[in-house]
This record gives sequence, C-alpha cells and structure tokens, in this order.
Amino acid sequence: MVLDVDTGVDDACALLFAARHPGLRLVAVSCVGGNAPVDDVVRNTLVVLDAAGRGDVPVARGAARPLVERPRHARHVHGEDGMADLHWPPSPQLPDPRHGVELLRDVLLDAARTGDPDDLVTLVPLAPLTNIALLLRTYPEAAAGLRRIVFMGGAAAQGNATASAEFNVFHDPEAAAVVLDAADDLGVPVFMYGLDVFSAPTLSPAEAAEIVAAGRACGDRAAELAGLLIDFQCHRFGTDATIGDAGAVVSLVAPELLAWAEHPVRVELAGTWSRGRTIVDQRTASPDRDHDPHGLSPTVVRVALGIDGPAVARLWRHTVTGGADHDATGTDDRRPS
Ligand code: BDR
Ligand code: CA
Repeated sequence: MVLDVDTGVDDACALLFAARHPGLRLVAVSCVGGNAPVDDVVRNTLVVLDAAGRGDVPVARGAARPLVERPRHARHVHGEDGMADLHWPPSPQLPDPRHGVELLRDVLLDAARTGDPDDLVTLVPLAPLTNIALLLRTYPEAAAGLRRIVFMGGAAAQGNATASAEFNVFHDPEAAAVVLDAADDLGVPVFMYGLDVFSAPTLSPAEAAEIVAAGRACGDRAAELAGLLIDFQCHRFGTDATIGDAGAVVSLVAPELLAWAEHPVRVELAGTWSRGRTIVDQRTASPDRDHDPHGLSPTVVRVALGIDGPAVARLWRHTVTGGADHDATGTDDRRPS
C-alpha cells in the first residue's frame, strides 16, 4: 500500500498503523499541503516513520497548494507544527528527491510491470487530493498499477470544514472532482471513508495515558507517540479522541467492521455554502431515481456508511502498541492488502 498524507495528528495515527500491521506492506508515502504546509508535513511524516522503525520507506514532498484556491491550513486542530507540538527531534532520514507525484508514478509503474495481480497497490489518500489528481491526469498509465483507491474525505451527511464540506475536499474540491472522474475513466475502484464513520472509533484520555505508559515501559517510541497523539486531541477538544484517518487504514485489514454501500458520487464545485460537498446519490434503490434520474454521476463509489467504532479503535490500539499494551485486544492475522 501507499499513503498520501498531510501529517497531521490523525495521519500520524494512520502511518503508525500502516507501519506496524503485519498484513500491510507500506512501500511509499507522498506528502501534500493540507493540515499544515507541505514542508511541515514532510518533517512530521519522517518523524513518525523513524519512531516506527520504518526509515526505509521513501517519503516525498508533493504539492504545496491546491489546484485553484489558496491553502487553508488547520493548525487550530493539529497544533502549530501540524503534529501535536511534541517538539520531537527531526528524523535523520532525508526525503526522497523525487516530487511526490513522481514517486507515486514510479511505484505504480513498477507494480504494473510485474504483471502479478498480487503486486497491485492500494492507494490511500488521507489528505486533500491534489497529488492524486495531478498523478492520474499527468500519468494515467500509472493506474495500471492500482488495485483501488481508499480515500479519507467527504461525507454523505454533514461536513466539518463547512456545514457541507469535509476538510480534505473543502481544501481542494477540483482535485477531488478530478480524482473521481479519472477513476471512472481509468477503471479504478474507489472506496470513500468519510465523516459518516470518521469520528466513531475513539479512545479516552485514560486509554491514551495507558498507551504512553506501555510504550515508555519498553522503550517503544511508536507506542509512546501513538498515546501522545491521542492525548493531545483529548486535551485540545476536551473529549475522547477519534483515531481519524487511521480508520481508513484499519478498514483495509478489517473491512467487515464497516458497512459499505455503492452510490454514485459527485463533488460540488459551485454553490455559495455547498462548495466542496460530496453529493452521495442515495436514490439507488428508490423509485425516485427511475422517475427523475437527472444529475446521476458516472462514478460509483463504495461509501462507508456504518462502522463498529469500538472494534476499529481496539484493533488500532492493539497494533500500534505492538502487543506491549496488554489491555488492548485485537486481531492481527489479517490478509495482506
Ligand atoms: C480530515 O481533515 C484533516 O484535518 C484530517 O487529517 C482528516 O484527513 C478530516 O476532515
Ligand atoms: Ca489527513
């Protein structure tokens, strides 16, 4: 699998899970401006992978800004440095010299070249879709190396950045529209892990403290980091914390913990207060669609509309603590993705 991130507290939670789950093979990470400016994103991503002992994974800097609009970062959510203001030292690893889009192209073309369907890549964008739009339009031949795209973004119901729009789509609506169009054009299956499920897997401040303690007890920096990230969010928002983007990665190894439904999806690019909304067309099984089939999107997406939040949170906790945290239970004998 390959991640595209704007690390980002919850992107960091996703990176830790992807780096640690035995059924996942993380082969590359591309970075994009979103929660924080792209240079902060690169630094944060390298710190997380170093803590997880995965300094071998290439990390490349991608697009600094959305296709059309100016960037609108989310420091109020993720901290001044974009990742919980932990002030951990930088990783000794350097970023890959390629542009993020070129790293993605090379990884996908390599996967396509082997001709082995088991080598096809699951691409998991957890950020504004700028890099992925640029990739699919500039190098459409790279789609031959894709098994599917599983993206965090959008919502069938309400948004968060605005009442209509989820942050990743809000930040670069044109990119999201391009990705849906290109996926249909190129025959790439798309799965949407959006706000309808995003906030359901949560951990409490007490659980965060247990994870930090378990990590420190055995010198496991990845587990310590996981606990500190959850703790940051609990304190910033005064509630239990969602594992956020990490749920999209958990869904790769435990799809049965979610309810998926196929619906045509469009991205609203106009509107005054609806720009960036993902319009999930749920007329599918209703007579309304036969009577009035106007505006039907050609892109059918598998949308996550239900989730067993506690089970997803448990599996994340069990995996990122690498078994050091004996209170957490989970299943880790899943098939590779
Ligand atoms: C998304 O926006 C970002 O703040 C998070 O990292 C996540 O990808 C949620 O709307
Ligand atoms: Ca993100």
